[in-house]
Amino acid sequence: MDKIVVEGGKKLKGEVRVSGAKNATLPIMAAALLTDEPSRIENVPDVQDVATMLKILSFLGAKVDYSDHVLEIKPGRKLNAFAPYHLVSTMRASFCVLGPTLARCGRGEVSLPGGCVIGARPIDLHLKGLETLGASITIDHGYVRAQSKNGLRGGVVYLGGKFGSSVLATANVLMAATLARGRTYIECAACEPEVVDLADFLVKMGAKIKGQGSHLIEIEGVRKLRGVQHTVIPDRIEAGTFMVAGAIVKGSDVVVRGCDLDHSRALVDKLTQAGVVVQRMESGARIRRNGTLRPEDITTHPYPGFPTDLQAQMMALLTVTPGISVITEKIYPDRFMHVSELNRMGSRIFLEGSSAIVHGARRLSGAPVMASDLRASAALILAGLAAEGTTEIQRIYHLDRGYERIEEKLSLLGANIKRVKA
Ligand code: EPU
Repeated sequence: MDKIVVEGGKKLKGEVRVSGAKNATLPIMAAALLTDEPSRIENVPDVQDVATMLKILSFLGAKVDYSDHVLEIKPGRKLNAFAPYHLVSTMRASFCVLGPTLARCGRGEVSLPGGCVIGARPIDLHLKGLETLGASITIDHGYVRAQSKNGLRGGVVYLGGKFGSSVLATANVLMAATLARGRTYIECAACEPEVVDLADFLVKMGAKIKGQGSHLIEIEGVRKLRGVQHTVIPDRIEAGTFMVAGAIVKGSDVVVRGCDLDHSRALVDKLTQAGVVVQRMESGARIRRNGTLRPEDITTHPYPGFPTDLQAQMMALLTVTPGISVITEKIYPDRFMHVSELNRMGSRIFLEGSSAIVHGARRLSGAPVMASDLRASAALILAGLAAEGTTEIQRIYHLDRGYERIEEKLSLLGANIKRVKA
């Protein structure tokens, strides 16, 4: 298995360019199935989750062609409405092909996605939403089977769960509702920029949608959608990871190009409070850190709150921040697999329920560590950049799911980092 090796302590300087957002791309790929016409999607990141979604679309009968960040999808007239376990189990986002196949074929059969290392990830809100649109749903032998014999019809769907709104449930119901008869209201809808990008894609296809980006989305169903061209928004989580990279080694000066700072307000606020200089630029942000950092208390929330997908990276930063910081997880209360690995590098983090108490130190020491999920992998690389000596990160297939050539991008900033092939 490949591993990443980082020699810590180098100041980062220069520019890094952000790729397209993985979490916007995946539902947009599913949405392309809502028409039989071809679509062209640009700024598609070259990451493993996109490759998995390509396999699923092919399995469903679409013709796909991906090269140089441009993706052409030709769904054709006939779709196969079945997504098997061996594909869905590797990536939960694949569950969002259920809404489009149901809307287009009147049925969909998708494997239950199962558990996940970052904690329980139920699908009750997806099912509740699709049932409200008239689908009858059964769960049998590990598969969700949805049918709508007389076609979907609009309805009022409240998508708030125990931990707030759900991003992919909002996406699934939004996609299904575009072809339903009549009007649908999604209440407590997710407001994430990735949901807005999906809605923008659907509107180009001919869908009638209002309120995207707010907690109330209104959709008036149409009979048919068309194929379109679309450019995916920049990845705010990748951008945030590079912003933390620019802050973690004293004396660094990094320009993160192509990001949309309006999508990163919570992070910018926390970095600024910690003493990092974040300067807005025409197409990106400049990050500088000179002095000692200040400790912080951070709680993750749905957008526009602090994103759970940057919690691990921020924790890496707080391990080299003198004083006590508290990070509380409100989206995935168990998303702390990175804590024990950071502690192997000399940090002192204690878990107390869904909070991590970080006793920051001035130095970390490089060590062999194991990545447990996508964002944890990024956090370990960041810690490695700041640590004395060598950090070896194993199981980086997690990293490859969502970061495009991160080691090359960090090398361009002067980091001493390489991928060692198995
Ligand atoms: N939830 C339910 N019922 C549901 C669905 C979700 O209770 O039917 C709960 C979840 O267990 C969680 C909360 O609602 O506690 C929010 O989960 P959400 O459904 O919003 O997560 P998701 O849509 O499955 C997306 C991202 C995740 C990101 C979350 C939260 C994609 C492909 N994935 O997942 O991204 O953490 O939203 O922002 O968009 C990542 O990129 O590393 C990643 C995990």
